[in-house]
Amino acid sequence: DDYGGQYRPQVHFSAPQNFLNDPNGLFRDGRGTWHLYYQYNPTELVAGNQHWGHATSRDLYHWVNQPIALFPPRQDVFVFSGSSVVDCNNTSGFFPDQDNGVVAIYTLAAPDSQSQAIAYSRDGGYTFTPYEGNPVIPGNSSQFRDPKVISYQGHWVMALAYPVEFAVGIFISSNLIDWTPVSNFSHRGLLGLQWECPNLVQVPYVDEDGARQDDMWLLVVSVNPGAPLGGSVTQYYPGTFDGTHFRAVDSATRFIDFGKDNYAGQFFYDVADEDPVFIAWASNWQYAQDVPTDREGWRSVMGLPRRTYLTKTARVGWKLVFEPYDLRPVMGDELASSEDLANDALTVDFAHVPSNALYWEAHVTGLPEGALPARASINFTFVSPRTRESFSGGFLLGAESFFLDRSRTRGFDNVFFTDRFSVDSPRSGDSWSLSGVFDRSIIEVFLDRGIDSATTIFFSKQPLTELVLATSDLPEGARVSVRVNALRSG
Ligand code: FRU
Repeated sequence: DDYGGQYRPQVHFSAPQNFLNDPNGLFRDGRGTWHLYYQYNPTELVAGNQHWGHATSRDLYHWVNQPIALFPPRQDVFVFSGSSVVDCNNTSGFFPDQDNGVVAIYTLAAPDSQSQAIAYSRDGGYTFTPYEGNPVIPGNSSQFRDPKVISYQGHWVMALAYPVEFAVGIFISSNLIDWTPVSNFSHRGLLGLQWECPNLVQVPYVDEDGARQDDMWLLVVSVNPGAPLGGSVTQYYPGTFDGTHFRAVDSATRFIDFGKDNYAGQFFYDVADEDPVFIAWASNWQYAQDVPTDREGWRSVMGLPRRTYLTKTARVGWKLVFEPYDLRPVMGDELASSEDLANDALTVDFAHVPSNALYWEAHVTGLPEGALPARASINFTFVSPRTRESFSGGFLLGAESFFLDRSRTRGFDNVFFTDRFSVDSPRSGDSWSLSGVFDRSIIEVFLDRGIDSATTIFFSKQPLTELVLATSDLPEGARVSVRVNALRSG
């Protein structure tokens, strides 16, 4: 497939052509292959005619496009979002002689009714047969969707959205076919206009001192429209789960990402031997169908795969932490580094890097105790030397505030394409760090090892090929080290 084009990301997954939205059916098979399905319109550059596209990877960065996995059953019924499980004990009866059967659980969206259906795959997730008894949960409304199934102590548990009721229904099953509603979670945090794509997942809890405590549970709910920044946003609730009921620790509203381009995220099914892995759709329904990548024949990209755990700090309470999944498979040559960037600047020309994708990190150490100068800052700016367009970001250490600014890119003029993002990101100890991935038309940043993170797409007229890293007004004793690496196309 041709993944050329000024805007086409090289380490983020995108569909070969046409329109992509939510990640669906994420699972890793017994041979270690990661499967990514996704909401896909194979015939147009806008949403509609939803199928499940499919891609596989050994490392979550090098993807192989596979044939479409799920097709609309009729012209006016679409295959909406959902999940997959590996039915290794053949609880469904679809897999008499195998332990690698895959069941996809998804929404059939008809004009006036949304219902839940399943399909089974006897070849490890490449081709699926819809169950002849579909739907397994009949439609009761035009808004009822996005089943996400996990396994819990010998039974199956589904989280399912009642979007306009601001509720997540919990259903249980012993065979993936017969489902019983057992509880509802509703009216907590941000309501917005619709709740979508719920995820229930067990997550590690690492306390402020780095000690691992008993696992917690997490409920993730995507809200659209009605985000504080407009359009789509994803929130999460830390809590407990007993097999039927999820109980949140409190009613606070907490967001996955402080940018505007991280939506409908999903956790991979049952990755028990490592931290949960999450992938989101890197766009926003306010402008997803208008971004200027149509001239390259594709629209929308997935966010980076992220490793996740919960922490709790005295200053900010519960917090979900995200770091990019191991980037080594795409990490390229070191382009520049410095151990001494305190109150100094470094310019890196990366016009020769074929991917136009970079990784960079910065570490500040030796910060004195107490208040820091209000203007003390650490900044990055990606620049087009030809047009002077730029994308910048930075941390004001005294104010503990981080900003991103995509306003000086001029390839997309849209009233909803918010210019600036910022987050109040409390800091502790004598150090602070930042890492980021720049990938042609998307930037993701991770503050202080992922305590806050943001996904931001942008469209410049000309490629940004120069990076300036700069720090200023840092107090005596502060030290700054930085490193910039090329990334290789996935
Ligand atoms: C979220 C969503 C889901 C739905 C899918 C349709 O972005 O609206 O609720 O299943 O997209 O493509």
